This record gives sequence, structure tokens and C-alpha cells, in this order.
Amino acid sequence: MIHLRIDTEFSVTNAVLKAGKLAEEAGLDAGSRQMLATAVSELVRNIVKYAGRGSVKLTVITHKGVPGIQAEVVDQGPGIEDVEVAMRDHVSTSGTLGLGLPGVKRMMDEFEIRSEPGKGTQVVIRKWSSTR
Ligand SMILES: Nc1ncnc2c1ncn2[C@@H]1O[C@H](COP(=O)(O)OP(=O)(O)OP(=O)(O)O)[C@@H](O)[C@H]1O
Ligand SMILES: [Mg+2]
Repeated sequence: MIHLRIDTEFSVTNAVLKAGKLAEEAGLDAGSRQMLATAVSELVRNIVKYAGRGSVKLTVITHKGVPGIQAEVVDQGPGIEDVEVAMRDHVSTSGTLGLGLPGVKRMMDEFEIRSEPGKGTQVVIRKWSSTR
């Protein structure tokens, strides 16, 4: 398990590298590793952008012999007013593409988001190695 503080642009880059490395060590195929790294990048970037600081916990998981990676991305920032709206393509409060959260959901095998205004946001994702 790797637990990383997220607060600066450097910490974002570092988290992406660590996620890719852990996924490689766990035996995920290159495509799944790339999708995981992209997803972690989007989620921790949202932390820096909207919450200022937070953390990511990376864990190797296995199911019936297939390796995967779980990432828990947590902050205690402003939270999201309406998660259902934020999950739609092209919804952004910062004038960028607004494809981060929906893109992450599409790339991952499992995706859970919980957010409470004033309390913070927690996203848990899981990516399994492709068995083909
Ligand atoms: N950790 C967070 N804390 C508070 N609000 C968040 C957080 N993550 C996302 N949001 C809110 O959800 C919206 C959608 O997030 P998403 O990542 O999909 O798009 P974006 O960050 O605006 O644009 P992009 O990721 O494409 O640059 C954001 O505009 C922001 O309002
Ligand atoms: Mg984003």
C-alpha cells in the first residue's frame, strides 16, 4: 500500500509515476496501466485544483488470480454540490473540458464517488488487468 499526500503539481506527477510503477509490479497489462495512470492523474489534479490538498492511497488487489489496483482519492475541500451533474460530460466550474470525472468512470472497471458540500470528496476506483 502506498499513501501519498497531494498538494502540489510535483505531488501529482509523483502520484502518477507511483501508480504506474505499482501497477507494473502487480502485473497489469500496459493498456490497463495507462488507463489507471490517466485516471489517477485526473483525480489528483482535481484535488489540487478544487481542494488544495488531499491524499491518494494505492493498493494492489487480486480477484481469482487477476491483479488489479485500487486508488482511494480523498480530500476535505469544498465538496461537490451535485455529483450527478458533475459526472456529466463537459460540466466544469473552472472553464476546462469537464471530461475528468466522466472520463475516469469510463476508463475504470469500478468507480465510486461520494461528496458532501463543505466536507470533501472521496473517489474510489479499481482497474483490473485485462485477461486477454
Ligand atoms: N475534488 C473535488 N472537489 C471539489 N469539486 C470537484 C472535485 N473534483 C471535481 N469537482 C467538481 O466537479 C466538476 C467536474 O470535474 P471534472 O474533473 O469532470 O471536470 P473539470 O476538472 O472541470 O475539467 P477537466 O478535468 O476536464 O479539466 C469540476 O468542475 C468541479 O466543479
Ligand atoms: Mg478535472
